[in-house]
Amino acid sequence: MSDSTASACTIFIAKEAAEFERRVAATPETVKKFIGLGAKLLVQKGAGETANIADDDYAAAGAEIVTQAVGVKAADIIVGVQGVDPAKMKSVQKGAWLVAGLNPVGDRKRVDAYAALGVEALAMEFMPRITRAQSMDILSSQSNLSGYKAVLEAGAHYGRAFPMMMTAAGTVSAARCFVMGVGVAGLQAIATARRLGAQVSATDVRPETREQIESLGAKAVFAEGLEADGEGGYAAELTDEQKAMQAELVSSHIAKQDIVITTALIPGRPAPLLVSDSQLATMRAGSVIVDLAAEAGGNVEGAVAGEVVEKHGVKIIGARNMPSSMAADSSALFSRNIFNFLSAFWDKETGKPVLDEEIGDAIRLTKDGAVVHPRLAQA
Ligand code: NAI
Repeated sequence: MSDSTASACTIFIAKEAAEFERRVAATPETVKKFIGLGAKLLVQKGAGETANIADDDYAAAGAEIVTQAVGVKAADIIVGVQGVDPAKMKSVQKGAWLVAGLNPVGDRKRVDAYAALGVEALAMEFMPRITRAQSMDILSSQSNLSGYKAVLEAGAHYGRAFPMMMTAAGTVSAARCFVMGVGVAGLQAIATARRLGAQVSATDVRPETREQIESLGAKAVFAEGLEADGEGGYAAELTDEQKAMQAELVSSHIAKQDIVITTALIPGRPAPLLVSDSQLATMRAGSVIVDLAAEAGGNVEGAVAGEVVEKHGVKIIGARNMPSSMAADSSALFSRNIFNFLSAFWDKETGKPVLDEEIGDAIRLTKDGAVVHPRLAQA
């Protein structure tokens, strides 16, 4: 960030350019709050359109509506959902911050380009899983909505009802829903499927999830020795022996399921394959699988991100940017994550945020022209 302490910190909210991206990283509510801290807010024209926020609403909150070129050049901090294309940032100030979800592991070239521009790129998805950073965690806020929407998508493609219905014309039996991977998205999927009246079961490789599954009124499906607790609340990859155990567990359970929601991810690795083609073939025709990990390689064999593929009579929905399909809510939560982050470090003296070591080092990808993050330096 520039050294100027006299002028207000200028924050630029960029309009997203990525395909299928409808979210925006600030709302009129967070714009107002940033202005309350003493910042100057610039919002790119049309930034909120796809999330149902008009330029006038930002202006009424105190922001100035600008072009991308003006915003990039003036900003001390550029804020986005997926960041700004480095090719559009040639006039950026050296030392300016770029705060967004930057896909650092998947898009290393872009990280190098930010380093070359001399910006300090801060990747919100690397936010550490510590209590004080919970309100800054974009992965949690967005996954929660994804888990909810996955169940609705499944319901829309399922040719039967979710709840048991006893009618004069006979009884409709409840759908059986199996949730694989019980992190933030999985827990919300369980809760949503239960609310809709499905009979829900779930599995994970982190043992502490058993109690969480049961507390939501679902059945926990676990096998002894099938545990892979990783660091920081994440899972680790299973050994080959454990993978075989898991395949056996899934085979014995999946044939009786109508709806399967898969959410399993392992940080820095491709998503684990949880459902094979031969397991799919054992499911009843008309069953539906939603693979929330489709963009990370997929938990289900044959899943394609952004497409509905039918195999053995089973529909496989490959999720693509699920939070974007609820852009108003997902933007509101994302925006609060960003505000909670920057405001927690706001330094009243200098009128701009100053990061501490624990969080700064965890999320800082580039500084002074170099890639500085240990995970990327090793890569
Ligand atoms: P995630 O998105 O990385 O993975 C989703 C789920 O898939 C995880 O529960 C993981 O254990 C599971 N999984 C991975 N491999 C699997 C396999 N082979 N079979 C079955 N399941 C598999 O995880 P997410 O949703 O980001 O959260 C993980 C944990 O971290 C949760 O307990 C959550 O409460 C905690 N958390 C803590 C935060 C904080 O303290 N700031 C913030 C966010 C999450």
